[in-house]
Amino acid sequence: MTNSSFRAVYETEGTYDKLLLRHFYGGTEDIDLVADWLTAHYVAPSGALRVVEFGCGTGRITEAIAPYAGDLILADYSTTMVAAVAQKFPNARTICADTSDAVTSLLAANRRASFDLVSAFWSLSYPIGEFFEELSPAGVRPRRDQAVATGQARKFVGDLVSLVAPGGHLLAMLFDAESPEQQLVTRAWETVAPFPDGGRAYTRHVLVDALRDAENRGDGTLTHTRLGGVAWAPSRDAAREWFFGVHFKHHPQLLGDPQLEEAVEDFIDEYRTPEGGVALPSGVHFIDFHAVAHPHASLPEELAS
Ligand SMILES: C[S@@+](CC[C@H](N)C(=O)[O-])C[C@H]1O[C@@H](n2cnc3c(N)ncnc32)[C@H](O)[C@@H]1O
Repeated sequence: MTNSSFRAVYETEGTYDKLLLRHFYGGTEDIDLVADWLTAHYVAPSGALRVVEFGCGTGRITEAIAPYAGDLILADYSTTMVAAVAQKFPNARTICADTSDAVTSLLAANRRASFDLVSAFWSLSYPIGEFFEELSPAGVRPRRDQAVATGQARKFVGDLVSLVAPGGHLLAMLFDAESPEQQLVTRAWETVAPFPDGGRAYTRHVLVDALRDAENRGDGTLTHTRLGGVAWAPSRDAAREWFFGVHFKHHPQLLGDPQLEEAVEDFIDEYRTPEGGVALPSGVHFIDFHAVAHPHASLPEELAS
C-alpha cells in the first residue's frame, strides 16, 4: 500500500462520490435534512446570506445551501475537493486549508461575527481530532499532551462560533460513534492506536461541551438532536469499499488484517437486504448553535419587552 492510496478517498478525483453511501434518517436523506432546516429557518432562498462551509468535499450538501448564499466561502484541505467545488460553484470563494487554519485566516481577515451560516457536514471530527492525534500512513500517533490538545480544540470551537454573526447559526452534522457500524470502525482503529478519552465520540464531546459553555456564557442556544437511520449500500462490494476505503482509508495495517476482514464480512451479512443491498444502521448528530443573546432572546415577544 502506497502513501498515495492511503486517504485516497478524499484526495483522488471521483473517489469520494463513488464510495460514499447514501444516508437516510426517518426516510430523509442527509442533504434533505439540511434543505428542510434551511426552509424552516429562512423559508425561501434569498440569495443574500453570508455562508461558509468547512470540509465541503465535492459540494454535495453545498447544493442545498448555495441558493441561499450571496457570499459563499467553501473550504476543504483537499486540493481535489476544492477543485471540484470551484468548478461546481464558480461564484464561491474557495480556501484550500485545514479547517482550523481556514478559521484562523478568516478571523485574521476581519470576518469575526460576519457569517449568517457557518457550516460543516460530516467533517468537524477531523480538525478536532487532529489536536489529539496525528493520522498518517505510519499509524495514529497521539499528541503528547492531551490536556493541551483539549484546550486547543475548545479554543478552535470558540473561534468557529466567533465567525457567526448575531442571529446567525453554526450548523454541523457529525457521525454517531456509538452506532454498531462505527463501533466496528472504532475497534479496527483501536488496533492501530487507542483513542483519547476512551473512544471516537470524544470529538463530538469536545464540540458539544464547548458549545454548551458558549450557551452558558450567554452567546447563544445549542440544539442537539441525534437521529437514527441507515447507510444504504447497493451491493456487498459497495459496503465493503465503504469500510475499507472510507472508514479505514486504505490504511495498510487494516487492509492486511484477516480478522478484521472476517468481522466486516459478518457485519455485512447481518444487514443484507433481500434485494442484494446492505442497510447499515447509522446515526447522525445534528447540531445547531444559534448566536442570540441568551437567555433573553429565547423569551416570546410579549415577555421580552
Ligand atoms: C466525510 S467528507 C464530507 C464532505 C461533505 N461535507 C459531504 O457531506 O459530502 C469529509 C471532508 O472533510 C475534508 N477534511 C478532512 N479533514 C479535514 C481537515 N482537517 N480540514 C479540512 N478539511 C478536512 C475531507 O477532504 C472531506 O472533503
